[in-house]
Amino acid sequence: MKPITSIFDLEAMAKDRLPAVIFDYVHGGSEQQITLQRNVNDMRALALRQHDLRNVADRKLAVTMVGDPARIPLAIGPTGLAGLTWPNGECEAARAAADFGVPYCLSTMSINSIEDVAEATGKPFWFQLYLMKEHNVNENLIRRAHDAGCSALVLTLDLHVQGKRWADEKNGLSVPPKLTLHNAVDMAKHMGWMLSMVKSKRRTFGNLEHEVAQVKNLSALTQWIESQFDPSFDFDTVKWVRKQWDRKLILKGIMLADDARLAIDAGADAIIVSNHGGRQLDGAPSSISVLPGIADAVRDRIEVLFDGGIRTGADIVKALGRGAHACLSGRACLYGLAANGREGVDCALKLFEDELNDCMALTGLKTLDHVPAEAVTAQPSL
Ligand code: FNR
Repeated sequence: MKPITSIFDLEAMAKDRLPAVIFDYVHGGSEQQITLQRNVNDMRALALRQHDLRNVADRKLAVTMVGDPARIPLAIGPTGLAGLTWPNGECEAARAAADFGVPYCLSTMSINSIEDVAEATGKPFWFQLYLMKEHNVNENLIRRAHDAGCSALVLTLDLHVQGKRWADEKNGLSVPPKLTLHNAVDMAKHMGWMLSMVKSKRRTFGNLEHEVAQVKNLSALTQWIESQFDPSFDFDTVKWVRKQWDRKLILKGIMLADDARLAIDAGADAIIVSNHGGRQLDGAPSSISVLPGIADAVRDRIEVLFDGGIRTGADIVKALGRGAHACLSGRACLYGLAANGREGVDCALKLFEDELNDCMALTGLKTLDHVPAEAVTAQPSL
């Protein structure tokens, strides 16, 4: 086997192994994917300052993220349906994160349940909450996350309605995947994936099994989401969540400095500057382009985390230079999981660490506590 030299190799392996219906779900964004492309392109367009003649023999990569230790400034972000890419995928990814030493965030929309992941890792992890209209569902999820020892609750703000993902609609994505003739032929071409999935402990949303028992296909799922996700959700709702949860609260999906200030007022411990990886509002700016304005406004008062377009260790340095305290990875770690399960996630994390280490040396950084703004400049020449 050829050596895996970058996240892009893991992406190619994921594409080979997964049926199109699953790969497209992982890889894609909403509508024309303008925001998804902006995330990646704007990140690439940033230039790093080459800084020589510094003694960078001892470099420190570790930080804390909302009080949890992180061997590198990167957590694995919440991704729904990760367990469709690899059997017991959320448990495997959480184990990889725990063994490597970075936080793992489980999605509300995971296949493995909160309890599965707690049992698999035996270590604290973060739980991402989508707020449902029915408060008893929310209360139940929050209580389960608390009982499982989750150290942080990540409340996602940007899903008042679900972004339209054209590929998923065309492919007829459903949970569990539906055997249409087209999907069956495609899955048969991906026998390795199909046979491996027999080992899955669960077939549907582990955290919401009771609630989605009737949901069988994407249109039914969309209807269910539209009936459950609460468009009236505002900062009073965030305050309600704050009252229910006595550990760290992180608000995910902030794209405006004013919303970041409201997050502080609502009692959040951290925010994640994020446009959901270009999967929600197509046409939104890239998350890296709005990061400096938000970080300048609030980073003295709240931890500013970032996601969107992180594909290399250098991208982490760029985000830190633009004002983030640390980052989360969505697709990159998911490509690793889909390519080779726990080992693939470990591979993704080691690639990030190695690249970050090299990038620090070449940009003259000994620690990541304060990456100066001058270390990263806009260079729109790509
Ligand atoms: C996501 N994301 C996401 N976010 C969230 O809060 N809850 C979720 O269930 C999901 N599900 C999900 C599935 C998949 C397949 C992807 C790719 C993403 C968004 C995710 O947490 C993160 O914000 C983005 O993925 C960051 O962008 P990158 O790293 O993928 O470029």
